[in-house]
Amino acid sequence: MAVRAVVLAAGAGTRMKSDLPKVLHEVAGVPLLEWVLAALAATATEETVVVIGHGSDAVGEALPAGVSTCIQEEQLGTGHAVMAALECMGEVAGDTILVVPGDMPLLSGRVLDALLAEHHSSGAAVTMLTAEVSGSDFGRILRDEQGRITGIVEQRDATAEQLAITEVNGGVYAFDGALLAESLRQIGRDNVQGEYYLTDVIGILASRGVAAMAADPVELTGVNSHHQLAAAASLMRHRIAEHWMAEGVWMLDPDRTYIGARVKLAAGVRLYPDVHLEGSTEVGPDTIVGPDVYAVDSVVGSGCRVWYAVLRDARVGDGAQVGPYASLRPETVLEADAKVGTFVETKNTRVGAGAKVPHLSYMGDADIGARSNIGAGTITCNYDGVRKHHTTIGEGAFIGSDTMLVAPVTIGNEAYTGAGSVITEDVPAGALAVERSTQKEIPGYAARVEGRRQKQVE
Ligand code: UD1
Ligand code: CA
Repeated sequence: MAVRAVVLAAGAGTRMKSDLPKVLHEVAGVPLLEWVLAALAATATEETVVVIGHGSDAVGEALPAGVSTCIQEEQLGTGHAVMAALECMGEVAGDTILVVPGDMPLLSGRVLDALLAEHHSSGAAVTMLTAEVSGSDFGRILRDEQGRITGIVEQRDATAEQLAITEVNGGVYAFDGALLAESLRQIGRDNVQGEYYLTDVIGILASRGVAAMAADPVELTGVNSHHQLAAAASLMRHRIAEHWMAEGVWMLDPDRTYIGARVKLAAGVRLYPDVHLEGSTEVGPDTIVGPDVYAVDSVVGSGCRVWYAVLRDARVGDGAQVGPYASLRPETVLEADAKVGTFVETKNTRVGAGAKVPHLSYMGDADIGARSNIGAGTITCNYDGVRKHHTTIGEGAFIGSDTMLVAPVTIGNEAYTGAGSVITEDVPAGALAVERSTQKEIPGYAARVEGRRQKQVE
């Protein structure tokens, strides 16, 4: 008896009021649909079919290899979507069909496994996940006096009395394949939305045995609106924060710490509030991040300090320091113990081991050798209006404050530049280059000015 999964992802998601198909909206940097597929990947299923329709090109592209798709040309409801799936799947008699909505990012493989185990032991025609929730937009579970499930009524079709029911339908079901196919042939669209409701199958199967398994409502958080998307993101934030705290990460305020699903943190990392770690970002042990850091696809080593900073596709070596108020743009590499300090922007630049760019600088398309010191206000003039050019600074160099390095230009090892110089020629190793006019002095100037002022007053 095979377990075959169907993921419903064809709906328009009208309530999102968005051009992006609903299931591609993200929670912790991962599309809703990908979360659901990850839960299924952790479950003992033999096949996964994703029903796509609205925005099928975009949704199809976002799917990982190994899942097959089935097109629901017109989106006529969840029952209609499962009919479309069964058409693609061929014979399902003898199989268990696991139906999962594509908009439920907090669903875990553990709960799906429990549902399948319950279904196989109960021998019911269908076993579904339910939760205790009041005032939601979920379908309400209807039971008779004996407590047997008789059907599901959608929120929009419910009477005031039915709306008070707190036992709700999670929209996740394990069906006997043959009975699912048979009952789908009997449903109509006589309801407020004029749709084929999958939930009507429950009423039809009532006499054949319907079982319910109560789940943590968090697992069944659905996303139909931006309001619910934010609620799901908040719950996921807690789940991810708890995971990392259990792994030895310190957080001053987990509510204000935003860690993407693919991020990797070492034990001993310390996160201050308003840290956003996204994409494939990794942080090594004993590194302090935050307050106020946005890092995407960046790797930070061990024993670093990064605060009030933006890092995009940057590499920060062990013991390096970034910020406060630094912007590391793509292809920035800080080697061990390097420093990029206050109001410094870097792009496509290597800052060698122990080298420092402490204040008010732009380093673009540059290579800075180990132990060099870049004075405050130094700028690599890398762009001539047409092309970008490279600046090379050797090891142990001393770049005076406010040096303009007009690229392409090379500063040799241990070389110096005088403060305020506009350097357009290469500087040999060990030399001092000064480019500025000689200072003139006018003795007694202040007294002369004062004398003139006095005359004007008279
Ligand atoms: C559905 C259930 C409701 C349950 C809730 C739980 C029905 C009629 N109602 O309502 O009882 O409490 O889920 O989350 O099933 N979809 C398609 N094709 C369609 C329509 C929808 O693939 O024609 C997909 C959607 O993309 C979505 C999923 O099915 O991923 C569920 O549809 P949605 O409109 O969100 O259903 P709910 O109103 O939440
Ligand atoms: Ca939904």
